[in-house]
Amino acid sequence: MTPTPPAKPAAKTRESARQTLVAETDPRSPAAEAYRTLRTNIRFAGLDTPCRTILVTSASPGEGKTTTVANFGIAAAQADARVCLVDSDMRRPSLHRLFGVPNTRGLTTALVEGGTFGTVAQPTHIKNLSVVTSGPLPPNPAELVGSHRMQECLDSGTKEFDLRLFDSPPVVSVSDALALSALCEGVILVVRSGAIPQPVIRRTVDHIEAVKGRILGIVLNSVDMKRDGM
Ligand SMILES: Nc1ncnc2c1ncn2[C@@H]1O[C@H](COP(=O)(O)OP(=O)(O)OP(=O)(O)O)[C@@H](O)[C@H]1O
Ligand SMILES: [Mg+2]
Repeated sequence: MTPTPPAKPAAKTRESARQTLVAETDPRSPAAEAYRTLRTNIRFAGLDTPCRTILVTSASPGEGKTTTVANFGIAAAQADARVCLVDSDMRRPSLHRLFGVPNTRGLTTALVEGGTFGTVAQPTHIKNLSVVTSGPLPPNPAELVGSHRMQECLDSGTKEFDLRLFDSPPVVSVSDALALSALCEGVILVVRSGAIPQPVIRRTVDHIEAVKGRILGIVLNSVDMKRDGM
């Protein structure tokens, strides 16, 4: 395994994290309001069987998965839910940088040592919000996330947390997100507005449904209100 170095955010990184975490830093902005709406919609989407484990994924890289996980998580924590963000993107993990916490122990540590989410979750500077970073990067991410251990790990966090949100790599490049779709109770698909051809989005939905992933909804990210006539 290749340990990712502990986060030592430079001033520029801290500023860019501040700009990304709008639900915390600019709660009156339209973007923050949109994340609160997402929180409400997701709550109603699972009225009969509330989703306590939700995977956030996308068809291709850079569509806004990590940004959505972080801000949705903050919005849920602000509503007094005990939230844990889990970095299950074992290819390009980034939640540790966003929240300025070390990544020496994390999800892979729990999977390899047979630990629970509780043993590797770190508090963040936001009340009610914890983060499980990726941990040292493994040579076999797809195998790890689809393992029986992963299922046990998922089952272990229900007492400590009301909601666990999983960040992931994109569906088109690797199979990790599909394995996680099958394990989580719900899936949110992030689509960067205007960036992805519709057939690719359709195929991604089909792939998720083929493994019995339950798609709760699609987040249309980076919408240009003027360009898109909204
Ligand atoms: N709605 C938005 N408005 C402005 N910038 C955004 C928005 N959503 C994401 N970004 C920016 O786009 C970049 C990619 O976002 P993010 O890291 O959340 O995507 P990702 O899907 O997690 O990427 P990856 O596939 O590499 O993990 C980041 O620099 C982020 O700050
Ligand atoms: Mg990401």
